[in-house]
Amino acid sequence: KRKMILDLDTGIDDSLAIAYALGASDVDLIGIIGSYGNVVIEEGGKNALKILELLGHTDIPVYLGESHSSTSDHFDRMEVSANIHGQNGIGEVDLPEPTRAIESESGVDFLIDAVHQYGKDLTLVPTGPMTNLAAALKKAPEIATEMGNMTFMGGALTMPGNVTRFAEANINQDAEAANAVLTSPLHSTMVGLDVTLRTLLTKKETQQWRDLGTTSGEKFADIVDYYIEAYKQFNDNLGGCALHDPLAVGVALDPSFVTTIDLNMVVNTNKETYGRTIGDDNRLNEPTNVKVAVMVDKDRYLKVFMDYLTNLFKE
Ligand code: BDR
Ligand code: CA
Repeated sequence: KRKMILDLDTGIDDSLAIAYALGASDVDLIGIIGSYGNVVIEEGGKNALKILELLGHTDIPVYLGESHSSTSDHFDRMEVSANIHGQNGIGEVDLPEPTRAIESESGVDFLIDAVHQYGKDLTLVPTGPMTNLAAALKKAPEIATEMGNMTFMGGALTMPGNVTRFAEANINQDAEAANAVLTSPLHSTMVGLDVTLRTLLTKKETQQWRDLGTTSGEKFADIVDYYIEAYKQFNDNLGGCALHDPLAVGVALDPSFVTTIDLNMVVNTNKETYGRTIGDDNRLNEPTNVKVAVMVDKDRYLKVFMDYLTNLFKE
């Protein structure tokens, strides 16, 4: 089994990423690191614990990472996200208070220790801002070449951003951190809006979870229906909600879901194009370190996604 760490700002699609990792039989989810973004960090961490408990996994520890952007304390929660994920981050659905507490060790130290311990066997999937990973790389630069796989949800190469014309939300939270990560020796795969906006879920699928007649199936259907309604309100032309974060977990486990191009990437940190992810014309002749997903086999992915989650919600 592959050791996996999720670094997320739990959120609705982040919750789906947790479910996907738990549903995959070849994954050993060793821990979750909480980040800020869709909600403030404490609430995101608590949401992760609630989701784990709903799915019967009080065995998995949740750590908190950095509570705001590395360069400004302005971003500790995106204002727009309340509209999409609800005020509580999980579609205003009430889940019981978690019985397990947040770990006292910092998420950044947990990540560094885990890379030292598991090395190439470890897969890291950040689906929020990259503040934690940038802090870990700063503290322990050797982890860049020790880590097995880093596949992140964020950025947009072939289309505009979703927060500004240039920036996707996760990158926009902390473009400086994202730039530090993507220009480091760490090899990564980017699962950005290029593919996630093409990978959609509708109420037809959430109804299948509801029909299972289980608490987890019903709660997840309620949470995701909120997200589908939000997409209808803000992005009606899509016809469903985007499976951003669970697609990143899927690609980390099976890269053949997507077609990638190899790049050296930079993230713009100037005011005009803040958060733009783009090829670096200063490193055209250097070996590349970022694979950018530009096409997705969404039908095959959606089938696996529904298999994993439906099985998980059956119990
Ligand atoms: C990303 O932003 C967050 O709101 C979602 O959880 C996802 O990680 C999409 O731009
Ligand atoms: Ca997220």
